[in-house]
Amino acid sequence: MSDALIARLAEILGPSGILTDPADTAPHSEDWRRLYRGRTAAVLRPASTEQVSAVLRECAAAGRKVVPQGGNTSMVGGAVPDEDGSELVLCLSRMNRIRDVDAIDLSLTIEAGATLKAAQTAADEAGCLFPLSIGSEGTAQIGGILSTNAGGNNTVRYGNARDLVLGLEVVLPDGEIWHGLRRLRKDNTGYCLRQLFVGAEGTLGIITAAVLKLVPRPREVEVAFCAVPSEAAALDLFTRFHRHDPAAVQAFEYMSGLGMDFVLKHIQGVTLPLAERAPHYALIELATPRPNAGLRDALEMVLEGALEDGVVIDAAIAESAAQRAAIWKLREEHSESQKREGASVKNDVSVPVSKVPQFIREATAACAALMQGIRAVPFGHMGDGNIHFNLQQPVDMDGAAFLARDHEIMDTVCAVVRRYGGSFSAEHGIGRLKPYMMPDWRGGAELDLMRRIKHAIDPAGLLNPGKVLP
Ligand code: MLT
Ligand code: ZN
Repeated sequence: MSDALIARLAEILGPSGILTDPADTAPHSEDWRRLYRGRTAAVLRPASTEQVSAVLRECAAAGRKVVPQGGNTSMVGGAVPDEDGSELVLCLSRMNRIRDVDAIDLSLTIEAGATLKAAQTAADEAGCLFPLSIGSEGTAQIGGILSTNAGGNNTVRYGNARDLVLGLEVVLPDGEIWHGLRRLRKDNTGYCLRQLFVGAEGTLGIITAAVLKLVPRPREVEVAFCAVPSEAAALDLFTRFHRHDPAAVQAFEYMSGLGMDFVLKHIQGVTLPLAERAPHYALIELATPRPNAGLRDALEMVLEGALEDGVVIDAAIAESAAQRAAIWKLREEHSESQKREGASVKNDVSVPVSKVPQFIREATAACAALMQGIRAVPFGHMGDGNIHFNLQQPVDMDGAAFLARDHEIMDTVCAVVRRYGGSFSAEHGIGRLKPYMMPDWRGGAELDLMRRIKHAIDPAGLLNPGKVLP
């Protein structure tokens, strides 16, 4: 180790708290999508908030930049260090304790490095539910979930990560600790600082622990998988469930026929629970904590009406927890199967729920006009208006040549998003992939305010450089 700072950090963190061998740091230097391959002299692995504080204090004194990293599942390169090797990676995974769970307060106090799955399990063991759910929940960590304001499958009912946090513990760029782990439902005492760090993608401070909101554990859960004739029919089906009982709709996911074909082609052990493939699919999950709520009857009644009206072509209802999981797997393997199919450009966009069908049709046509053979794979959280409008490379095109046109493709999709008053990044955040879009979409007073906040909290620009702000 040539670097005096790294020697000092090794002293603070101890032998199991720092990785410097390139073979060990390599997995922390590349993102899940393999869009970026950076380098770092060290991965710092603190085991306590005090160690995070000491590390940031040293780094600030030396002017060394730090990239916080959770499960490294970012879709936008939000947790990778730069190529020049000067940035250090701060990995929170050793800070993974459950500090407290309270079924009366409906709160869970948990450290940043615990996985989302661990949070869900801790809640379940207390007879509660932590309702955030995303495909990468076995790997993604609470610090990253909050720093990116993750959305996922249950936003339609419970909101995003931002809506599920009561308190935070944060280490600021100069090493000072903000002890904000309050679990109050009412606390009107000035600026809401926790919301400043949620969604900041680690550019303002390091979240080391959080108090999360829990909800009562559902007593009844029903999952159905439907073939539908069009995007508009999928939306029609959502409205029918929502009108019947909005409080029961826990997830409503849309999938295109092509996306499902990729899952069936690339993922082992999955089967379509319907007799025939369809042009579009919808997954509905209903859940309620109320006893004897008759959820199954409600599900069957709405589906029968939709079948009669031609809104649904065919439907399968899960009869067990295993069947529910098998249906969800068809949805959750979308990203992985697209990765195996070849190069893909992701557009994590949102439009008003009522505009989702028109958006999908118009964006598909716009992309087809841009590039012959491009394959649109729209899927995602129709119930909250967030569609992953992913574009797969034409079958016989070179992957790198396709990715070289990513801005052009994203701009084509975003032109349609803009017509509907949507957002160019609904849940994946900005990371390293999308800062270039910020001036166009969030320019003027909004971006100016963001820059002033960044400068006030991190004047030397030490935390997660190159992310979020252009
Ligand atoms: C998902 O919901 O599965 C991911 O956010 C989507 C993606 O791969 O674009
Ligand atoms: Zn998603």
